[in-house]
Amino acid sequence: MKKLVQLFLTTSIFFFLFSCQSQITDSCQLEPLSFNGTFTEVQNNVFQPYCVGCHSGAQAQGGLDLSANAAFVNLVNASAANSSLSLVKPGQPGSSYLMKRLRATDGETPMPPSGKLEQRLIDLVDLWIANGANND
Ligand code: HEC
Repeated sequence: MKKLVQLFLTTSIFFFLFSCQSQITDSCQLEPLSFNGTFTEVQNNVFQPYCVGCHSGAQAQGGLDLSANAAFVNLVNASAANSSLSLVKPGQPGSSYLMKRLRATDGETPMPPSGKLEQRLIDLVDLWIANGANND
């Protein structure tokens, strides 16, 4: 009899865990966060947390201010200090110096210098530029 109770309990726990797990999997489908590729998303998820520490105010590194209200005009169709490319060329992520620094594929110091951002954030900036680099 004791064995039967144990078996019953073990089975119930198993089903309880199993059903929980499928629920967890469902809520996990919210990850990875999907972005629409707006400038607001770029400012809030990339520039604000990872860049303005060095790129803001009078001491902005590389002469590039990426703080809110400054970043858009300083990037879109603006010349880069270190390259003949524009920092952001609307519709052309591959010709935008900003993407070269985020990807650091040409042996340049990555931005941020401590190491590349997670891929989904690099993809977000790429998507924003591909979408036409709008102020949205
Ligand atoms: C620890 C400080 C630091 C952080 C954080 C940082 N940068 Fe920089 N950044 C610099 C310095 C210093 C330079 C100038 C030297 C160089 O080009 O490597 C620079 C230069 C740049 C340039 C080249 C500007 C030009 O006109 O040539 C871009 C683009 C850039 N950063 C983008 C970013 C972005 C985007 C982020 C955030 C994802 C970021 N940086 C985070 C220090 C930083």
